[in-house]
Amino acid sequence: MPNIPKHIAIIMDGNGRWAATNGLPRAEGHRRGAERIEAIIEACKNRGIKYITLYAFSEENWMRPGVEVIALMHLLRHFLVSKRQGMVERGVRFRAIGDIARLPSELQQDIKETERMTASCRDITMVVALSYGGRHEICRACNSLLAKGVKDATPELFAAELDTNGMPDPDLLIRTSGEYRISNFLLWQLAYAELYFTETLWPDFDDKALDLAIESYATRERRFGMISEQVVAQGEE
Ligand code: IPE
Ligand code: IPE
Ligand code: MG
Repeated sequence: MPNIPKHIAIIMDGNGRWAATNGLPRAEGHRRGAERIEAIIEACKNRGIKYITLYAFSEENWMRPGVEVIALMHLLRHFLVSKRQGMVERGVRFRAIGDIARLPSELQQDIKETERMTASCRDITMVVALSYGGRHEICRACNSLLAKGVKDATPELFAAELDTNGMPDPDLLIRTSGEYRISNFLLWQLAYAELYFTETLWPDFDDKALDLAIESYATRERRFGMISEQVVAQGEE
């Protein structure tokens, strides 16, 4: 199908506001948000999308109240343990990016086990950003190049040191909940992504909302610095 993004990245925002609107505790908003993930992955897979990267917990989110951080860590563990068999059955490869060493050790074990179990799944790759911050990821990549004694970094060498090594850059970034910012997400990788913002809160984000984003993407002309006539000529080749 033409103009289907190969890789979608999503900033899943608005769980707290969804909970407040419905008179529920914030943790319930996160739980309802996590419940949307499986259906969205399946919808992406059925539309031919090969990678989906979800921003689940940012480096800055460590600054939230302790009870909320603990609730999120529990929810992440529960998500992995309860969903991984289904991922295997549906061909979903799981991969985590971010400063994983900062997460509770049991969660790190669950991540490892889920990555191991789904390693040969090929239908879609689901990447979850945990304790993730784009600036730190870039610094880690720099340090890794320095440690290797690289004196003349190139974009290719640099990208190979990022957590996303081996993956194509996102074609489309979706952010829910009417916030218009990147919040330290995939700063390097989003260089040429198409951006899509929706007022919909993440727990309300469904297949229809996903299709609106994909439809919007399909109308964009990605010029990558060229002029329209060149892009059209390339398409005709
Ligand atoms: C996004 O929802 C989930 C995380 C950041 C973990 P929020 O918790 O940020 O929801 P709002 O922005 O308060 O509505
Ligand atoms: C970004 O959402 C992080 C995730 C969705 C996991 P936030 O709600 O934390 O972002 P800011 O702080 O409002 O920019
Ligand atoms: Mg938020």
